Amino acid sequence: MANKVVIGAQWGDEGKAKITDLLAQDADLIIRYQGGCNAGHTVVANGKTFKFHLIPSGILYKGKTCLIGNGTVVLPEYFEQEIEGLKKENIDLSGLKVSPLATITMPWHTEVDGYSEDKAQKGKIGTTKKGIGPTYTDKMARIALKIGDLYSKEALEEKLDVILPLKNKQLEKVYGLKTYSKEEVLALCEKYAKIFEPYVCFEWQELLQKFKKEGKKVLFEGAQGVMLDVDFGTYPFVTSSNPIGGGACTGSGYGPKMIDEVIGVAKAYVTRVGEGPFVTELTDEIGDTIREVGHEFGVTTGRPRRCGWFDAVTMKYACLVGGLTSIALTKIDVFDKFDEIKVCTAYKDKRSGKIYNSYPTDVYIHKYLEPVYETHSGWGQDITGIRKYEDLPENARKYLERLEEILDTPISIVSVGPDREQTIFKG
Ligand code: GDP
Ligand code: IMO
Ligand code: MG
Repeated sequence: MANKVVIGAQWGDEGKAKITDLLAQDADLIIRYQGGCNAGHTVVANGKTFKFHLIPSGILYKGKTCLIGNGTVVLPEYFEQEIEGLKKENIDLSGLKVSPLATITMPWHTEVDGYSEDKAQKGKIGTTKKGIGPTYTDKMARIALKIGDLYSKEALEEKLDVILPLKNKQLEKVYGLKTYSKEEVLALCEKYAKIFEPYVCFEWQELLQKFKKEGKKVLFEGAQGVMLDVDFGTYPFVTSSNPIGGGACTGSGYGPKMIDEVIGVAKAYVTRVGEGPFVTELTDEIGDTIREVGHEFGVTTGRPRRCGWFDAVTMKYACLVGGLTSIALTKIDVFDKFDEIKVCTAYKDKRSGKIYNSYPTDVYIHKYLEPVYETHSGWGQDITGIRKYEDLPENARKYLERLEEILDTPISIVSVGPDREQTIFKG
């Protein structure tokens, strides 16, 4: 197997975990490289459903090394909960490792995230309230704690002497929130140190070096999706990290030459949770049908997902900035009973009639855009049991081949159901 990155090519929840789990069979090392427990990743295997937030979706296979990379932000209590859940399922966690360079989400980060979402008058993003934005903000401002800091009292105290006066002033004066004493935070950190102790990997350089030297196979697992990328997504309605393929390098410790393929996972339609533009959104009964048939409710927050037709304009953009070498198209089975399936090939400005064939990065004009659709005939049969590309109904194959043509990118995997087995490798 080549070294692969699996990323979301839309607004998240594309089925990345299903594809990661599938490809993890042939990998030796699986690395989660960005995001935190805002992610909700579902794997259905051996008749069971597993939901992951931080732990790489490759953990279900024995003998693999699963690393939570430096680019992630980790909420200790959530990590602990996830570990406990997996232990109850008797999942072998001996291969799980956490980078000491991963950033810790402290209680003030979740509190500020909650405040910004609930109390702020303007600028609601619809976040998962898991402290993601405030943690990455502090990381970039160089006032965050890293997991490695928990094991050096000297480093911790020195850092807290800088962080706490600043943070407390901010918490009190800007947000009207509770402040933290040094003793209180040190006690918290002691608790966190115990949580991470069995997994923290101070030898991560030797580990990465060894895998590289021995030509072992590496699979990078992205969270969120290209359209939620802090640089390329529908800013400011994005997450605070880089889910694009390039994020795999900054978030793992491996350079670009370690990556052979970037697989962009996309649904045969589009969903989005939270605020922000969504040109192909369907607020009618077709959208409701997609939500019902596709079970489109968030794994992390339970929120109903907004649904719409496949948007080839954003997808073409995702192929470029995400660095996709191929696409894994999921959930095409959701259309089994649809007579017609639409694909948005361009946007039209309602005011001027101007046609956009490329994605306009100025999101403030998106409210004036309407989709230009082409319509495909459905296939009217259950395809969830099909395992070979040539066994798919002709209309399904035509639809897939047309998408490849528009996107100028091959579809390498077609997913026809949530289960690991319900997959077609297109070749
Ligand atoms: P992720 O965040 O990208 O890993 O995706 P989520 O787990 O949040 O959401 C994807 C949902 O779709 C999960 O419930 C999966 O079990 C399910 N799923 C994945 N692939 C398919 C598919 O091809 N067909 C159907 N019907 N469901 C799928
Ligand atoms: P996975 O990995 C879908 C969305 C939130 C919100 C925005 C910012 O399961 O695909 P944040 O909490 O990150 O500051 O929220 O990003 N969001 C996701 N949407 N899937 C996800 O992860 C998401 N992670 C964050 O809904 O709009
Ligand atoms: Mg998800």
